[in-house]
Amino acid sequence: MAAPLRLISRLAVVTGGGSGIGRAVCQRFAAEGASVVVADVSEGSANQTLESLPREHRGQEHMAVGVDVSSRESVERMVTTIQRQYFQPPSVCVTAAGITQDEFLLKMEEDDFDRVIQVNLKGTFLLTQAVSKALVASGSSKGSIITVGSIVGKVGNIGQVNYTASKAGVEGLTRTAAKELSRFGIRCNCVLPGFINTPMTHKVPEKVISKITSIIPLGRMGEPAEVADVCAFLASDDSRYITGISVEVTGGLFIG
Ligand SMILES: NC(=O)c1ccc[n+]([C@@H]2O[C@H](COP(=O)([O-])OP(=O)(O)OC[C@H]3O[C@@H](n4cnc5c(N)ncnc54)[C@H](O)[C@@H]3O)[C@@H](O)[C@H]2O)c1
Repeated sequence: MAAPLRLISRLAVVTGGGSGIGRAVCQRFAAEGASVVVADVSEGSANQTLESLPREHRGQEHMAVGVDVSSRESVERMVTTIQRQYFQPPSVCVTAAGITQDEFLLKMEEDDFDRVIQVNLKGTFLLTQAVSKALVASGSSKGSIITVGSIVGKVGNIGQVNYTASKAGVEGLTRTAAKELSRFGIRCNCVLPGFINTPMTHKVPEKVISKITSIIPLGRMGEPAEVADVCAFLASDDSRYITGISVEVTGGLFIG
């Protein structure tokens, strides 16, 4: 089925665009007509995504940039680079960069706690702030920021005290940003994926995956494209009256 064309003339930046969910978001946005900035700490993977993007619409121009979302300097440099290239800030931003460093609470090193918070939570803060500042300064009348939390931020997950804390934080941050930025026409929403088939979950032992799959009502893990579909809806005007929400993309996992 051909994708609808809801993002023609939009400029979108997607962090974590080099892999998994971020890559699928870049592909979906490009298929809907957006110009896409693929941003990732791994420039090689960002370039691989870039090469896979369709350019079928007039004015559609994609680029790849290296960024470390946990560094203010790096994030600000990226936003400046984008504005130089396109003469406007991105009006759509998806913060899909994320990491795990799993360990039981009783054994977790402080550095592993800090690193996950820095990338997942502080990275989301830095992106949201830099993009919304640029949008407000440009006088743009609308924007859509889509953050990536996780269903485990709501329910907890053994071995992920750092990750679940970071993702719960992302949800709170998104709701606050939605309240503060709505007067500038900027909507902020969060997607909460469940267990999605990406390099991140390829690290999870097969035994654990089959146990989880057995409790997912839809009976399988999700695909990155299924999260990207929801992000495209949240980026587009189809969701113009929606802000501050979290959308679970979990196949029904943990619905209660
Ligand atoms: N896969 C899942 O089941 C799942 C579930 C819930 C939430 N999520 C979230 O979805 C997002 C994407 O996850 P994924 O499964 O696609 O993982 P992934 O590992 O396939 O991709 C993550 C990408 O983020 C990039 N990245 C890591 N640190 C970065 C940094 N400091 N700056 C910029 N880029 C950086 C990586 O290079 C990689 O390309 C993450 O935030 C993750 O926490 C994933």
